[in-house]
Amino acid sequence: MREETYSPGLAGVIAGETNIACVAQGNLLYRGYTIQDLADKVCFEEVTHLLLFEELPNAAQLSSIKKTLASYRPLPGALIAALRTIPTSVPMMDVLRSMVSYAGHFDPVDGNDEAANRQRALWLTAQIGAIIAARYRLLNDKEPLAPKEGLGHAAQILYQCHGEAPDALSEELIDLTLVLYAEHDFNASTFTGRVICSTLSDMVSGVTGAIGALKGPLHGGANEAAMEMLQRFSTAEEASIWITQALKNKEKVMGFGHRVYKNGDHRAVILEEKLRKLAEQKGEYTWMAIYDAIKKPMTEEKKIYPNVDYPCGLTYFLMDLPLDLYTPLFVASRVTGWTAHIIEQRRNNRIYRPLSIYTGPKERPVPALDER
Ligand code: SDX
Repeated sequence: MREETYSPGLAGVIAGETNIACVAQGNLLYRGYTIQDLADKVCFEEVTHLLLFEELPNAAQLSSIKKTLASYRPLPGALIAALRTIPTSVPMMDVLRSMVSYAGHFDPVDGNDEAANRQRALWLTAQIGAIIAARYRLLNDKEPLAPKEGLGHAAQILYQCHGEAPDALSEELIDLTLVLYAEHDFNASTFTGRVICSTLSDMVSGVTGAIGALKGPLHGGANEAAMEMLQRFSTAEEASIWITQALKNKEKVMGFGHRVYKNGDHRAVILEEKLRKLAEQKGEYTWMAIYDAIKKPMTEEKKIYPNVDYPCGLTYFLMDLPLDLYTPLFVASRVTGWTAHIIEQRRNNRIYRPLSIYTGPKERPVPALDER
């Protein structure tokens, strides 16, 4: 019998092995490549291939995965009809949770072996980008758009939202966030997907559950929550006054902290550099001053550093994207990591079933109804 250990939130507990990502203070690796190298040199489709097929693609494989994604993008008519029935007040993350599950009824992939599940992962990746854009169009009283030939995944999402191909900088920034968000070992949403599929349940169920987990503001929902926080302030001075009080009240500041990274999130450093350039180009000095007014006491006094969600929220905001789209874009990327883990879980599966410490009433007899 293994020694029983108790750790709230499984902090510090090793729950499995993975050869997909290494999340460490030293660096973040996707199958051995550093996140900085990947961010500098490859696009989201190349990362998708790396996560799902275990190697970066050559030119032929990259062309093939782009063609496969393109072939899986069109949404079933029934799904668009279902999208139209969802009240406009429903948050996009809730729409995604429902629509990914619903899309599962039209899953075009046969079989459940690794090859089939890799195809299913690509189909889910393509469909999720299209569902986000279709919902965005309907919310703006516009008809969903069919995909446009020849666009990369990041550009395609923006095109299907706005009806025009994005400028080079917008495409580059969205593609970068998709690369940075793609995979992060046993985070809460990925672990959720692995737990679901450790019962030999299906990939769509695993991804649906993972979407539910990612929505929370302690996890992927933090990119929206961090921007909602920044939007409270019109000056850096206001932000400074707020953060001083928030830290006194021991409030959780969205976009900061991490279970693993205690000296800073490698992805946040990469994205913040791009954010500063974007803000400079747009002359958005006040937003950066507010951003820094919150960041300064967190890093200098609390030694709690930004995670990827902090720069991401303001980046998407300066790209004029609505907050409701931020965590869905996280989903559009992380579905590749989730599905890679679901495939890996199957390889050497053992159903997850941790123990608990019972703190309820001691054993007692059931009283008759008239005695209760
Ligand atoms: C993501 O796991 C992943 O890899 C996730 C992710 C991924 O790619 O999948 O990286 C994506 O989810 C990033 C995190 C986004 N969430 C937020 O930004 C929400 C705010 N952050 C915190 O809720 C918190 O930092 C967590 C949830 C991210 C981590 O929680 P932990 O590891 O359980 O840390 P903790 O809550 O135990 O905090 C340790 C101490 C506490 O102080 P004490 O109670 O011990 O005095 O640090 C403090 C906390 O109060 N602290 C914070 C803080 N984060 C930690 N104080 C203020 N603001 C914060 N954000």
